Amino acid sequence: MMKKNLIFLVLLALCFKADAQNISLVKGWKMSIGDDAGWSAPNFDDKGWQNANITRPWERQGHANYDGFGWYRLHVVIPSSIKEKAYLKDSIIISLGSIDDNDEVYLNGKLIGKYGGRGGDIKESKYGHRSYVVAANNPAVQWDKDNVLAIRVYDTGGDGGVYGLASEYNIRMSDIMEGTQFDTGKDFSYGDKNSLGKSIQLVSKNHYQYRGKLSVIVTDPETNKIINTQKTDTAHFTNGKPFTWWFAFAPSQKKSYLVTYTFKDTKTGVELSQTETTPYILTPAVSRVPRINGADIFGVRPGHPVLYLIPATGRTPLTYKATGLPAGLKLDTKTGIITGFVAKAANYPLIFTVSNKFGTDTKKFTLAIGDNIGLTPALGWNSWNAWGLSVNDEKVRISAREMAERLAAHGWGYINIDDGWEAAARNADGKITPNSKFPDMRGLTDYVHSLGLRMGIYSSPGPKTCGGYLGSYQHEDDDALTYAEWGIDYLKYDWCSYGQIAPRSPNLDEMKKPYQEMRASLNKANRDILYSFCQYGMGSVWNWGAEAGGNSWRTTGDITDTWASMSGIGFNQDKAAPLAGPGHFNDPDMLVVGKVGWGPSLHPSRLTFDEQYSHISLWSLLASPLLIGCDMGNLDRFTLSLLTNDEVIAVNQDALGKSARQYIKNDNYQVWVKELKDGSKAIGLFNLTDKYQTLSLAKNDPALAGYHKFRNIWSQQPIVAAGSTVGGKVAPHGVLLIRVSK
Ligand code: GLA
Repeated sequence: MMKKNLIFLVLLALCFKADAQNISLVKGWKMSIGDDAGWSAPNFDDKGWQNANITRPWERQGHANYDGFGWYRLHVVIPSSIKEKAYLKDSIIISLGSIDDNDEVYLNGKLIGKYGGRGGDIKESKYGHRSYVVAANNPAVQWDKDNVLAIRVYDTGGDGGVYGLASEYNIRMSDIMEGTQFDTGKDFSYGDKNSLGKSIQLVSKNHYQYRGKLSVIVTDPETNKIINTQKTDTAHFTNGKPFTWWFAFAPSQKKSYLVTYTFKDTKTGVELSQTETTPYILTPAVSRVPRINGADIFGVRPGHPVLYLIPATGRTPLTYKATGLPAGLKLDTKTGIITGFVAKAANYPLIFTVSNKFGTDTKKFTLAIGDNIGLTPALGWNSWNAWGLSVNDEKVRISAREMAERLAAHGWGYINIDDGWEAAARNADGKITPNSKFPDMRGLTDYVHSLGLRMGIYSSPGPKTCGGYLGSYQHEDDDALTYAEWGIDYLKYDWCSYGQIAPRSPNLDEMKKPYQEMRASLNKANRDILYSFCQYGMGSVWNWGAEAGGNSWRTTGDITDTWASMSGIGFNQDKAAPLAGPGHFNDPDMLVVGKVGWGPSLHPSRLTFDEQYSHISLWSLLASPLLIGCDMGNLDRFTLSLLTNDEVIAVNQDALGKSARQYIKNDNYQVWVKELKDGSKAIGLFNLTDKYQTLSLAKNDPALAGYHKFRNIWSQQPIVAAGSTVGGKVAPHGVLLIRVSK
């Protein structure tokens, strides 16, 4: 008992030493679904409630498909020491991660905030981060005593509950640094000898005159050694007058370093710190010599329009040639775009040749005219993770232009508009029209097609989409035909308000029904429209998505740009993996690299650079559709390098169409193995810890036995494996992606 107490006290002391001004609200939460006004009371006995993890939606804590009310409760002591140490002592901030969708927050039974302060009704969708300010002398705050925080949540659909980054849950004083932050959102620039530079700013909404010093410490996460320190003379800033500092550093190795920026205000002694990682690029520079990229096969239905851009890199101008083209198709030899129609179903073997003054490349390719389309996972862009409902014609055009200029040569081809394009009401004839943000949908599609790219759109089988726009309910035929008229090539069909149409706990047939209905409508359209189900994995959709006519199906709720979200989704895909195949793939949701934001203001992905390598590697191994979810008009060099590694893309686009399987799973690392068409395998060794680890497989491990050639896929270099194992050092949350062949 004594010993236990001692350990507890030491731990407590360490916690307080680390961040005595922040009272963490991560552990100890209880949760119940349902609704009862008495659950806000401090003396309510919640011992029988389940333990809650506030970094995961309740769907992943035993309440699959649950929409409606739920409550969370936590006991927490608020020590007056935080008030004593603060410079300003008048209010506390209760920060609560993200609420999906809306909330009322009680402290000791008293309502202290609701709906993010935005008014309305608890049943309105107001997903997002919550921070509530409470006066320090508010009688609801019980200083130095047990306080009960209770959150009433209402979820309108999809994932629900209280979930966010662990670091977002705390109680702190609203001190002078409130509203003050480091703006580290600018991209790194790359100079000579691998040097990195970046402009960072100290910005504040406070009128306090900050005067102090900014220091920067660079740490090598592998050795934990400080390898660089920098200090300013005076950092002086206030509201509207930021302090700008150019941080530069020349890393000695190709890996991520940790950079910690700290500002200390001289007068108050208050400090503000922020840590970020530095990027490093593994993808080799593109050669000026032609190289043909992308999948080896493309499927089109007989008689439907063909649009295929031969993806090739190399110094322009390039000249394209295709032999074996069936009658009805023509190739533009300057752009590499193949168009036309082929009536007869068959596998047409083609040979592509691309040349410029530096050389020539050729590639065998199969044009599969038949009923199966989407033979390799879709590669494209979707507006949602970047722009949310603020998507418009201009943003889509910019994305298309950038994709054509920078990504199409690597096989990227879809430009998909997500929610937010629909007008408020249908025309008198029942036809759906775009809203004022999309003045000419047909014109936009023509533009996208003129670049050799394809166009996607979004709807719901319910009366409303998840964003509250018009859905396709009872207008499935109308909409499928309208999409075809506009030239649409891809439809994401999102369950959303269909929950109100379907019975409360739909059985499998009831879950399939709306998807089969739209399948039948799409079959009436005279063009190929890739069909992407979005119903968050309900009813283990991977078991029946192909039979219901889907080319892909979401296996999870929505992703966000955190390690918890991305890894929680990505490493949980094994159950669905055996069901992926050419024409029908599991979709663990869209990519969260680059600048994301789900609305008009964007931020760089909060994934570290190593986490981003893991994200792209894992999604490629899983044969997932790769849908870029960032601002394409603002692609930084690192993000571009992530998305244009042809050997990584080749793993995703492999014509065998298999998903990797989870080969090793433990707390510290995982290994995933994907079989490839030529008999080789792609293997990802993922470090799940926040420390460097050496990860390897023995050469006589069943996954490697018989394979003698090993290649680092990201750096596109052979791996020299002299000993009895194949592997290497892997960064925190990072990956080693290997191709093994005979
Ligand atoms: C749901 C989907 C998202 C996105 C939004 C649009 O949340 O899962 O991918 O399409 O709806 O409102």
